[in-house]
Amino acid sequence: MPLRVVMAASIIACGAATPQSRQPPIVVKFSHVVAVDTPKGRAAEHFKRRAEALTSGRVRVEVYPDGSLYEDGEELEALQLGAVQMLAPSLSKFGQLGIGQFEVFDLPFVFADYPQLRAVTEGPIGRKLLRELEVKGLRGLAYWDNGFKSFSATRPLRGVADFRGLRVRVQSSAVLEAQMRALGALPQVIGFSDTRAALRDGIVEGTENPISNLVSQRMHEVQGHLTLTRHGYLGYAVVVNERFWDALPGDLRRKLEQALDESTAFANEIARANNDEHLARLRESGATDVYTPTEAERLALRDALLPVHRQMEARIGKELLRDVYAATGFDRQVP
Ligand code: LMR
Repeated sequence: MPLRVVMAASIIACGAATPQSRQPPIVVKFSHVVAVDTPKGRAAEHFKRRAEALTSGRVRVEVYPDGSLYEDGEELEALQLGAVQMLAPSLSKFGQLGIGQFEVFDLPFVFADYPQLRAVTEGPIGRKLLRELEVKGLRGLAYWDNGFKSFSATRPLRGVADFRGLRVRVQSSAVLEAQMRALGALPQVIGFSDTRAALRDGIVEGTENPISNLVSQRMHEVQGHLTLTRHGYLGYAVVVNERFWDALPGDLRRKLEQALDESTAFANEIARANNDEHLARLRESGATDVYTPTEAERLALRDALLPVHRQMEARIGKELLRDVYAATGFDRQVP
């Protein structure tokens, strides 16, 4: 366990002993790893504004963006220990906790569009997945979008053959590792905050992310080529420390739930536009060649990646996979 997580947890524990009479605001530390001007970064700021307004300052939300408090690999542990109260990790990152089912969202081409995604996140499957977090001391409250991912690299990626031997940064997800191997690429799990440096230093030669993450981390400056593949989805689960949440006075908890509902609507409304703005900025910069694959190229990529669904069936769970296919209509699309 990283020392700074332990130290922060004990500081929070000491803070809890502050005399009630002074009634300091309840502090919600909300840590995340992306830039402020991204769908998640903006939604976290929105939550802060709404939570503080709705509780008339009885709750103070401190947002720590860009991995400034905790990075990947630390933040979930910090939440379990109570060193922070709220996070929104990408769905891919819950596999680290031993909940591999969340990696169903990483399956390539599993969602053709947002209605298919919503059929999962806003229905019984999404709710059941969030409940899985409770055994880990976490409460899952909402799903926030980032968007559909594209591949980028230091060399052009047009056909499947172009991926062969490419060292690609992935998030810590068995499905994403299998996805890269299916293309003949070499996956390397690297924390988000270290990815730009890894690309710059040649440790990896490519990555995948929605455009907002790519551009806000200036990853496009260290890779000359982006292919708009939309081959997979990246979104978040907003999670809180369960003990903290349950110990809140009921009226405050309801106000925070309201602030979160509003922030979820906000996040999912701005995500697409935010990614489009970043794409426009990237095109303007001229730093990266943007390639839109032909229909034939996209189908070839899909054909190469679909076997990952079967390979990962045991990890994700046959029943969950079947339910997701039924909710999205995916089974009817398999050639
Ligand atoms: C990544 O690691 O690529 C993303 O999960 C970062 C994020 O939180 O969007």
